[in-house]
Amino acid sequence: MRYFNLFVLVMTLSGGLPALAEDRPYSRLGATPTPEKIKAWDTAIGPKGEELPSGSGTAKEGAPIFAAQCAMCHRVGSALVAYEDTLYMRMTSALVGGRELLAGPNPIVTVGNFWPYATALWDYINRAMPQFAPGSLNPDEVYALSAWILFKNGIIEEDEVMDAQSLPKVRMPNRDGFVPGSPDWKKYNECNPRDPECSDRLME
Ligand code: HEC
Repeated sequence: MRYFNLFVLVMTLSGGLPALAEDRPYSRLGATPTPEKIKAWDTAIGPKGEELPSGSGTAKEGAPIFAAQCAMCHRVGSALVAYEDTLYMRMTSALVGGRELLAGPNPIVTVGNFWPYATALWDYINRAMPQFAPGSLNPDEVYALSAWILFKNGIIEEDEVMDAQSLPKVRMPNRDGFVPGSPDWKKYNECNPRDPECSDRLME
């Protein structure tokens, strides 16, 4: 019985599949994506922010957008966002909080104390938020929301304009808190951990 099964398996793998493929022309399924479609998916923004579109925004402009489109999930208040140690808050991700939240057995990672690049904030909001309508924000709104979250984390000023030039220059507090996972680890090991500019130079 065992051998019979093996025989069937070998037959299926060797002869059966190509025959099936001929019987069912899969080439008729799907469609070649149009350049517009590819462009709509191709939204990744790297650490240097070279792919950022034109547009701009400040924290002041971001505040009402956050209140209308984000606060119902991320909470907003005078001290803002998601300090509460509830399961829901942990699931939705805290956006604001300092290093002290990392201490203790249940650290709470936030945009402010964890994310290494401000450009990733733009990328993430643009592609994934608000969760009920991802991709619905225009570039100005995404800049304004990024500025607002950075301001609330004490990283930029309230009236600082965020755009394709200024956002990549924002230095996130935890930029050097990551161990490089790349095969270039030998190169990064040459950096003195007390020299934060070193990893920047290697990235260039
Ligand atoms: C319907 C609920 C909902 C709304 C509305 C919403 N979010 Fe989120 N957001 C989430 C959830 C859930 C996550 C966590 C997703 C995950 O980790 O996969 C998240 C994650 C995030 C993160 C990543 C946080 C991190 O550290 O990983 C950012 C930044 C963010 N949201 C910003 C926004 C902004 C800006 C808006 C408004 C435009 C918004 N969100 C609206 C539910 C929401």
